[in-house]
Amino acid sequence: MDYRFAGRVARMKSSAIREILKVAEQPEVISFAGGLPAPELFPLDAVRQALWDVTAADRGTLQYSTTEGYGPLREQISERMRTRGIEASPTEILVTNGSQQALDLVAKLFLDPGDAVVVESPSYLGALQVFDSYEARLVAIPTDDEGIVLDRLEEAIRREAPKLLYLTPTFKNPTGVTIPAARRVRLMEILERHGTMLVEDDPYSDLRYSGTPIDAIKSLDRSGRVLHLGSFSKTVAPGLRLGWITAPPALIAKLVLAKQGTDLHTGTLVQRALSRYLRDNDAAAHVQTIRSAYGSRRDVMLRALEGAFPPGVTWTRPDGGMFLWATLPPIVDTTLLLEEALRRRVAFVPGEPFFPDGDVSNCLRLNFSNSRPEQIETGIARLGALIGCVAVG
Ligand SMILES: Cc1ncc(COP(=O)(O)O)c(C=O)c1O
Repeated sequence: MDYRFAGRVARMKSSAIREILKVAEQPEVISFAGGLPAPELFPLDAVRQALWDVTAADRGTLQYSTTEGYGPLREQISERMRTRGIEASPTEILVTNGSQQALDLVAKLFLDPGDAVVVESPSYLGALQVFDSYEARLVAIPTDDEGIVLDRLEEAIRREAPKLLYLTPTFKNPTGVTIPAARRVRLMEILERHGTMLVEDDPYSDLRYSGTPIDAIKSLDRSGRVLHLGSFSKTVAPGLRLGWITAPPALIAKLVLAKQGTDLHTGTLVQRALSRYLRDNDAAAHVQTIRSAYGSRRDVMLRALEGAFPPGVTWTRPDGGMFLWATLPPIVDTTLLLEEALRRRVAFVPGEPFFPDGDVSNCLRLNFSNSRPEQIETGIARLGALIGCVAVG
């Protein structure tokens, strides 16, 4: 059958790396590849109880609902936003199917084919895919150990007049880097000067293991130009598919229209169950449990890297999140390295797809949240031995 797809479908490529990584799902492979939370830390009993309670309580739990989201949940989110320095009433919050849907809705609202979107290089792959599917033109800006390089950003804003800037400023996927407070202030000044909109993707900020908490960039927003994206995927469970957007009421109204066409609303059952879970449990204590487990996994990985990786390899030391990012000597192509790593029963994600211009091939991303400490030690030793052969030998 000769299907007559839309032109944009040609831009939706299945990733060669995803195919290779299917091998990483075999149990004998130690995988630092996925971006998964640790399932043994999911609050299974508490969520089961919440589901039971909300279905026992009232038939409305299985009814259609409003697009904006379940009222009590929006109130709880609004309360939670205070911890990020954001004062937002429930009317400034839209509940979404994970922050991935939030990205899609924002793109649907703002992007015509050919519009420029400024992104960091490297950036979260799922966001690049969304912008690409709306036929945006990606403008990649380099990053350093404090995030996006502001001079280059301002130059690009002047040249391209982008519709959106997309950032993950706190414990970024894939590098773990955080933009410090001073750079956030200067960034906001640039956005104000040029009238640029920012999409602040912030799913990792609760996962801090060291250093001082830092307010969201949205907390500096006085003119309604920052859309802040949050998620329960990392602090409760990703299978719930619950996230949210915080934005001025006028934008929420438009996003609601965009979401109606997509799915009418996020599931009533799951929203009510999450709201109940947050009400009846010490959710902050649960996040603390996750933090202490992931924090020690990060430390184990950092120690293992010191011992196992040869000179000439550098890596980030993030204060939170789920990932480290390693840079190998330029002669090493990490996509080729992955094939040999899998033969040695260890997996990572090659860095190349995270670069919008696909121009850097000697980096790799390591996830530390989904492996137990002893697996981390063994896996990093395997990887270090391989990199030692390839980079030095
Ligand atoms: C930076 C970033 N944004 C968004 C998402 C999507 O998260 P969610 O599960 O909330 O859709 C992820 C998932 O890993 C991510 O790393």
